Amino acid sequence: MKLVKLLANLGYGSRKEVQRLIRAGAVTDDAGRRLGEKDLPPHAAIRFRGEPLDVPSPLLIMLHKPCDYTCSADDPGAVIYDLLPERFALRNPALSPVGRLDKDTSGLLLMTDDGQLLHRIIHPKSGCLKVYHAVLDRPLEGHEAELFGSGEMMLRSEGKPLLPAKLEVLGEKEARVILHEGRYHQVRRMFAAAGNHVLDLRRVAIGGLALPDDLAEGEWRHLTAAERDAVFNTGKSI
Ligand code: URA
Repeated sequence: MKLVKLLANLGYGSRKEVQRLIRAGAVTDDAGRRLGEKDLPPHAAIRFRGEPLDVPSPLLIMLHKPCDYTCSADDPGAVIYDLLPERFALRNPALSPVGRLDKDTSGLLLMTDDGQLLHRIIHPKSGCLKVYHAVLDRPLEGHEAELFGSGEMMLRSEGKPLLPAKLEVLGEKEARVILHEGRYHQVRRMFAAAGNHVLDLRRVAIGGLALPDDLAEGEWRHLTAAERDAVFNTGKSI
């Protein structure tokens, strides 16, 4: 790959902008020597305005999504990309959320530019359970765990019953819900169908990867190799 294309794919600018930046001396090697369009040292040795380049594809990051941010690139309001370096929204291949969280839901969100990995994580057969913590408006009545686990629960305007889900009671109005799938507003609609209302919803784990305590709302970081493995190692966090 040529230097211009590499930088444009990483979102540092359009090809034209990147050409201009290279000519202006913004791109150097790790010894500070200016690079030209025809140079291509190893990725780790390239600097943009003195800083190492972002990692190439495949990129996998975790974001502690706050409420009020939409999992979309072009919503008029606040979007998850506002919480990342600006160039991340311009990468090619595109960086996408691994299954969406509603605007009103917070918690662990993975993002990747690796389509195969994305499908592996969201596919119900992969075994990557999604774990949610829900605070409810009304006390649990006692029938919810059986209803959610039945494999026969139908949500309004859907033609297929939900896969069995697990409900763990954490308090009178508090529960953990473990899902194998990710339908639109699923947890909220499940509680609505059970006659309740979700006041606060947070995703606390994906597979065996729990939302790290030290990742504050709005913060993101790359996954370690162990965390990536944990995504497919359901059981540890649950
Ligand atoms: N269920 C919901 O209702 N909302 C989410 O964001 C995720 C699961």
